Amino acid sequence: MITYSRQSINNTDINAVNKVLKSKFLTQGPEQIKFEKNLSKITHSKYVATFNSATSALHISCMALGVKKGDQVWTCTNSFVASANCALYCQAKVDLVDINLHDFNISTEHLESKLIQAKKKNKLPKVLIPIHFGGMPPDLKKIYSLKKKYKFKIIEDASHAVGARYFGSRVGDNKFSDITVFSFHPVKIITTAEGGAALTNNKKIFEKLSMLCTHGITRDKNKFFNKKKEKWYYEHQLLGYNYRLNDIQSALGISQIKKLNKWTKIRNKIAARYIKAFKHLPIDYQIQKKGIISSYHLFVILIKKNKKKITRDKLYNYLKKKKIFCNVHYIPIHRQPFYKKLGFKEKNFKNAETYYKNCLSIPIYPDLKSYEQKKVINEIIKCFKN
Ligand SMILES: Cc1ncc(COP(=O)(O)O)c(C=O)c1O
Repeated sequence: MITYSRQSINNTDINAVNKVLKSKFLTQGPEQIKFEKNLSKITHSKYVATFNSATSALHISCMALGVKKGDQVWTCTNSFVASANCALYCQAKVDLVDINLHDFNISTEHLESKLIQAKKKNKLPKVLIPIHFGGMPPDLKKIYSLKKKYKFKIIEDASHAVGARYFGSRVGDNKFSDITVFSFHPVKIITTAEGGAALTNNKKIFEKLSMLCTHGITRDKNKFFNKKKEKWYYEHQLLGYNYRLNDIQSALGISQIKKLNKWTKIRNKIAARYIKAFKHLPIDYQIQKKGIISSYHLFVILIKKNKKKITRDKLYNYLKKKKIFCNVHYIPIHRQPFYKKLGFKEKNFKNAETYYKNCLSIPIYPDLKSYEQKKVINEIIKCFKN
């Protein structure tokens, strides 16, 4: 069985986790601090707060940027629902932006025209959450220029993009944003089983992220409202959550980070082989611009109209029979019954609709053997030839 994605765990990872299980700290100990330091080192971000998922990191990031009831938070419709749900957790209003069909990321044209309309109605977003879809950074330079003009904050949802690069900048360095969020779910680039992180260069934002992740409690005597001197004293100042990543998970993360560069190269090689092999097929894929290195969490093919009338569903079912399990990323958020109830209409997301009907995520992960990739390629070619 070949799946679209899966984790890669070896004995080094297992030994790292075992070591923690035999140690004094299982929850918040030295491994969590080290994992945060290592994430900071590889991304060049000043501050890192780890979380028990990207979903919780997104929630707390919205809170740390002051998102509250009635605020507008915008994100891209081609994403997992967590990118939008985080705003609803804060009782904000969500609006969605269409994608472009070059890299399947947020359409900056659609974004700009929505911003022009929103300004007229005095309904500009407080926060925009662009996605690094499949590991491919969106047009951050244009998004950043719009941020300056329309004065919104940015949370990059880089759940897919640990290890990606953008014109000399490392995804996570927040050159174009206030906060960047990563996911360490097993199908992603590196894993801690469940896990996430929020990265920022702003000390105040970081302090909020850390406090809200752990109940809204501080143990820093310089921040106490009551000037207590007792060593055991702590203070609950904000309504936060228990969203912490533990030391067992962090040890796995530390071990996984060591393989990040190697894995990014492997993923890019796998992608290059697909692109070469499908040259003559009616298939589009994400275009990687010069200066960008995708982490290729996903390799998505977009099936164009073709003489053989091969559709996405036909290809999906054909590959499934051959024990190749692909997936669809994503059912656009505006199509989910929960969001439809909020009033979103398919006709407002023309590109995402075209994309959704024709997209398929085919296998890509570091342990994908070359004979397995050949099988995937051969079966796809066969399906189009039959
Ligand atoms: C773009 C995006 N954002 C957020 C999430 C949520 O990640 P997690 O499972 O770590 O909460 C996912 C998960 O698939 C995702 O794809």
